[in-house]
Amino acid sequence: MPAGEGWWRTAVIYQVYVRSFADGNGDGIGDLAGVRSRLPYLKSLGVDALWFTPWYESPLADGGYDVQDYRRIDPRFGTLEEAEQLIAEALEHGIRTIVDIVPNHISDRHEWFQQALAAQPGSPERERFWFHPGRGEGGEEMPTNWVSSFQGETWTRTRNPDGTPGEWYLHLFTPQQPDLNWNHPDVRREHEDVLRFWFDRGVAGVRIDSAALPVKDPALPDLPVGTAPASGHPHIDRDELHDIYRDWRAVAEEYDGERVLVGEVWLDDAERFARYLRPGEMHTAFNFGFMTQPWSAQAMRDSITRTLAEHAPVGAPATWVLSNHDVTRPVTRYGQADSSFAFERKRFGTPTNAVRGARRARAASLLVAALPGSLYIYQGDELGLSEVELPLEAIEDPMHFRSGGVDPGRDGCRVPLPWAGAATPYGFGGTPWLPQPADWAALTVEAQDADPASTLNLYRAAIALRTQIADFAGGELEWLELGADVLAFRRGDGTVSITNLGAVPVPLPAHHEVLLSSAPLDGMLPPDSTAWLALRPVRDRAPRVAD
Ligand code: GLC
Ligand code: CA
Repeated sequence: MPAGEGWWRTAVIYQVYVRSFADGNGDGIGDLAGVRSRLPYLKSLGVDALWFTPWYESPLADGGYDVQDYRRIDPRFGTLEEAEQLIAEALEHGIRTIVDIVPNHISDRHEWFQQALAAQPGSPERERFWFHPGRGEGGEEMPTNWVSSFQGETWTRTRNPDGTPGEWYLHLFTPQQPDLNWNHPDVRREHEDVLRFWFDRGVAGVRIDSAALPVKDPALPDLPVGTAPASGHPHIDRDELHDIYRDWRAVAEEYDGERVLVGEVWLDDAERFARYLRPGEMHTAFNFGFMTQPWSAQAMRDSITRTLAEHAPVGAPATWVLSNHDVTRPVTRYGQADSSFAFERKRFGTPTNAVRGARRARAASLLVAALPGSLYIYQGDELGLSEVELPLEAIEDPMHFRSGGVDPGRDGCRVPLPWAGAATPYGFGGTPWLPQPADWAALTVEAQDADPASTLNLYRAAIALRTQIADFAGGELEWLELGADVLAFRRGDGTVSITNLGAVPVPLPAHHEVLLSSAPLDGMLPPDSTAWLALRPVRDRAPRVAD
């Protein structure tokens, strides 16, 4: 492991959506060979770690979040041996690896679920899941009224071997993702073994999928209408989850080099969120609060203040996330009249000002890179890619289908990356599994490499400065009051980040030097842009890549 105690406190972590990153064998599907061939690119970006969305054997009913076998790599992506090589080669470049663990559910093709289907009601094989008789006389009604995170039903009825309707099983997501029963010792033991399997192979951490969902109230109560029940929500944020993550932390502590737990925790309640980050539990969790804010100085400032305040009592660093494989790309989001993010509002054909969105996304990327904590970059954001509006026949995401076709789903941010050349597949490999837009030639890595003002070079410069300027290392920031539409703060005693979210240019505060800016400055800070200022000469400054 590269040196660095507490490396995860300030790390820049790049999310690789394997299927869409780079295709090494020309079949149109991204793979581990593709990632290995692009390690020099990731090194040039300056990231500290890679988080791989699930790369395990899977029918890909939900893009790999339906794991069939945690100890095998999906053959479309490569082999376990290649994963081991990739982990080792990344480390040679000083880059750590984080893998994705999905505790809430597994694939319906996982051997446990196949065994459960073949077994009788009440059998030990079914105990690992939530099989239950239906309600109503013939058991034809679902056992609970729970609502899926993907819309639609949360229970599917099985058939008995003689063809008659049987028990129902719970799935908070698709029917291909049966929920596991975390009260069962097999489920707990198996996941701890899976953690060790990957820690033994040198991974530096795990991202925990849907981390607030795995435990259910065994009484399976209905969701109440109106006030919350005293026993808590039947399947979100149950207290027993903390025992699981304390056990996982103990597993991580068996290893050297600080193996980290990063939770995907979507919770509105700040105090409940922070509980997952108490000493002895997870190291960090994704901060979705900031990601969902509109382009507004007040909203963003409030969110930053809230975030820092909710992390402080538990001593955990904040994380900053502009997007991931589930949400609309920032370039598109910030170009829309309502630039906040909510899953339920995604629609086809939402009017978007692409130029404004691109400007704002650049400004936002500098803003978050200046904040205290760790930083996540979703592949392609460093190229300024927009959300792609895909032809209907190309869409695979179950979120689209479960919405009755109203929600475009999440494939628009999962389109294979453009690396080089003037036309699709833009150096990705074979014909991409999702079609790329015709106008991506100027956004390829090749095109942006050559342009000092490109978004790629902006990211490189920001990451280099963030790593090398000591002011960025601490956990504090101090707000500067420079107007209602201006977000400005000082890091340490010598570095300022200033973002103009208003409609007119604003003057820059007194400074020694502009370190970096998301747009040309001309003496003033134009609308929709961010600048980093040094208040005095900086020693040991990173090489300047772009202005
Ligand atoms: C998480 C993942 C998402 C997946 C869901 C179910 O939210 O990020 O992609 O569909 O969990 O596993
Ligand atoms: Ca491939």
